[in-house]
Amino acid sequence: LVIQFGLFTALLAGCAAHANSPSANEGRTLYEANGCARCHGQDGGGDGPSAPTLASKPTNLHDPSLFKNGASEDAIAETLAKGVLIVHSTPELHQTHHEYLMPQFAHLTGRERRSIALYVLSLSGSANHARTQP
Ligand code: HEC
Repeated sequence: LVIQFGLFTALLAGCAAHANSPSANEGRTLYEANGCARCHGQDGGGDGPSAPTLASKPTNLHDPSLFKNGASEDAIAETLAKGVLIVHSTPELHQTHHEYLMPQFAHLTGRERRSIALYVLSLSGSANHARTQP
């Protein structure tokens, strides 16, 4: 019975996930719920309260050209899934020390990460390439 119930819940969850597609609106809620603002700031400027305590400055989310792992919806969702690791100077250290500059958000669903990606892109208006580079 327990197993059957588990399967049933999984099915339900699967349906719910398909029912609505990712949206910047949901992303905004998730941005707040997951503490992005702690580091990146309430409006994404890279100046959250924790920023001064970090080894690396949180990226200004208004400028996607700064995103090292890419600035497409896919790329940002992927960055959130994997987090950002400190790149060590030697391959040996890189193997053994997995320290995160930015945590992984692996517990979120793929759709949730996409919603956050859309929200991040909405901050710069780059979703429609409205912004011109200086
Ligand atoms: C503990 C602080 C912290 C939290 C929490 C955090 N970030 Fe970051 N984030 C960073 C730092 C630091 C960097 C810059 C890493 C570097 O120097 O490459 C970064 C980089 C990024 C980048 C650019 C990655 C790239 O390709 O270079 C994006 C996009 C981003 N964060 C989005 C988010 C979102 C969205 C959330 C919430 C789901 C979040 N971050 C939560 C600290 C944080």
